[in-house]
Amino acid sequence: MCGIVGYTGDQQAAPILLDGLARLEYRGYDSAGLAVRNGDALAEVVKATGKLYHLADKTDQGHSLPGTCGIGHTRWATHGDPSVVNAHPHVSGNCTGSGSGKVESDVVGVHNGIIENFTELKEKLLRHGYAFYSDTDTEVVVKLVDYYYKKYKIGPVDAITRTMVRVRGSYALALMFRDYPGEIFAARKDSPLIIGTSESASYLASDVPAILKYTRQVYYIDNLQVARVAPGSVKFYDLNGDEVSLPLTEITWDAAAAEKGGFEHFMLKEIHEQPQAVRDTLNSLIHDGQIDLSATGLTEETLQALRQIDIVACGSAWHVGMASQYVIEDLAQIPVRVELASEFRYRSIPLYENTLVIVISQSGETADSLAALRVAKERGAMTLAVVNVVGSTIAREADHVLYTLAGPEIAVATTKAYSAQLAAMDALATQMALVKGTVSREQYGHLLEELAAIPDKIKRILEDKERLQWFSSKIANAHDIFFIGRGLDYAISLEGSLKMKEISYIHSEAYAAGELKHGTISLIEKNTLVIGVLTQSQLFEKTISNMAECKSRGAYLMGVTTNGNFTVEDSVNFTVYIPKTDEHFVSSLAIVPLQLLGYYTSVNRGLDVDKPRNLAKSVTVE
Ligand code: AGP
Repeated sequence: MCGIVGYTGDQQAAPILLDGLARLEYRGYDSAGLAVRNGDALAEVVKATGKLYHLADKTDQGHSLPGTCGIGHTRWATHGDPSVVNAHPHVSGNCTGSGSGKVESDVVGVHNGIIENFTELKEKLLRHGYAFYSDTDTEVVVKLVDYYYKKYKIGPVDAITRTMVRVRGSYALALMFRDYPGEIFAARKDSPLIIGTSESASYLASDVPAILKYTRQVYYIDNLQVARVAPGSVKFYDLNGDEVSLPLTEITWDAAAAEKGGFEHFMLKEIHEQPQAVRDTLNSLIHDGQIDLSATGLTEETLQALRQIDIVACGSAWHVGMASQYVIEDLAQIPVRVELASEFRYRSIPLYENTLVIVISQSGETADSLAALRVAKERGAMTLAVVNVVGSTIAREADHVLYTLAGPEIAVATTKAYSAQLAAMDALATQMALVKGTVSREQYGHLLEELAAIPDKIKRILEDKERLQWFSSKIANAHDIFFIGRGLDYAISLEGSLKMKEISYIHSEAYAAGELKHGTISLIEKNTLVIGVLTQSQLFEKTISNMAECKSRGAYLMGVTTNGNFTVEDSVNFTVYIPKTDEHFVSSLAIVPLQLLGYYTSVNRGLDVDKPRNLAKSVTVE
């Protein structure tokens, strides 16, 4: 997820663009850049890595870039490490290593989204004489627009619509053409883009906060539409190039609410971003009905030879490992150990040949996980990092990398990154099973269909969030909450319990349901809340009986189960249903009600949901 801005009007563009990017920095912040045109002069591009202030300093707060028309970008890397050369804007010609200077090219642009078929498009353009300077999908799409612009000579709108027909993926594009000074052209599919106007100026942005200071009159450009933006006026076109009209909308949000997309907290916004995070992550791995791990460098031979997998992580990432253990062992029949990184790094754990150590980390900077990765490498194990931050330390030091595409996660309590990690690991397990021959092609196809259906099923669960909001008001004063389950349901319980305790500060424990009678059940008192996760049909009855044991000691029971298991209501006091799915992949669904329960409980207790006490988003110290 990145942030794009654009301005054309009667004011100097660069300071306005920088101001807009600063209000979008939550969308991505590993590098940034501007392209500004001064009248008919060539556009000037300036780019910088790191936080936005580096770009502001490099351009003297924008004053060293004269001109009244420009575009800008703040990046969250998905293709290509964070670097000046990979930072946007990108151009249709060549680009110097510094990434800054006059743009001799015909087209310059910025992009938010993911072009899924950029590799095949890049090969097409290489055959037509184009050369590439970056690793980004954005450079490909800018050059593709240039290709059609030169080939058909009908103008920018035509070149853009032809590109849109050819491209697969998501995009919000803002482009300037050398032959059209003072104008910006935009196009959108699935990535957010709004266009604002005032008397003498027009504004483009990925999100409302970037332009709220200048105008509240905006157009929400629709999917597969193109905009031609001039100072104070905008024209819209459909995919056929026919002009269409859009309603002008008044924005009523204040700036703070706008940054959270209208949600009260980043955590709730990110819970709702899970369908997109899972979809983007799966789309980056599944092409034409096949899981493609080539970007990780893991070959079929490597997977075929695997005899042991050690998953190492912390916190929620460790919970992903706990869930993946069941999935990999059941699908691919490869033994899996799951280790806390803070323990693994000090243990004399033997690592034999054909062992793959998988380090899972959203930030890619967690000190214990990084240390564990280094220990694994010192002992000669092959390592794979599953991370959300491109170019992070763990990503750079591992032998292989599998990126999740959850976008920046601001709330300390992880949600969308956790779900994206689950999806990535489920896809990895499925591919391992095919390579190992433990699933047939037909089963493989079914599993891929089940994976592809996950995002929409998450969306369906989110539509029923009010019941959880109501139930959370009943438990806001609880002192102890137990989450129990067996198999994958135990792994889900671990994450549900962490969500609850880290943001509501209510003591909570997750327990393997079969383990309760070995001591912990002595803690169950009248009205102690016990939440049972009941998605694994083979273990369902056993967990229900464990819950009944708790009930007989006074517990209040909540059950999370799949549609159709209505008998649960004979045993528990409050039931939440999730859509049916292949039981290997149910974690991505069952966790959503538990995330919402933790969230609403924290809100009911009047706590700082996004920044819980004592916690940091990335634990870069031991
Ligand atoms: C989860 O909600 C917490 N924020 C925390 O447990 C986190 O998962 C853990 O610190 C690992 O972080 P990482 O994924 O960035 O390595």
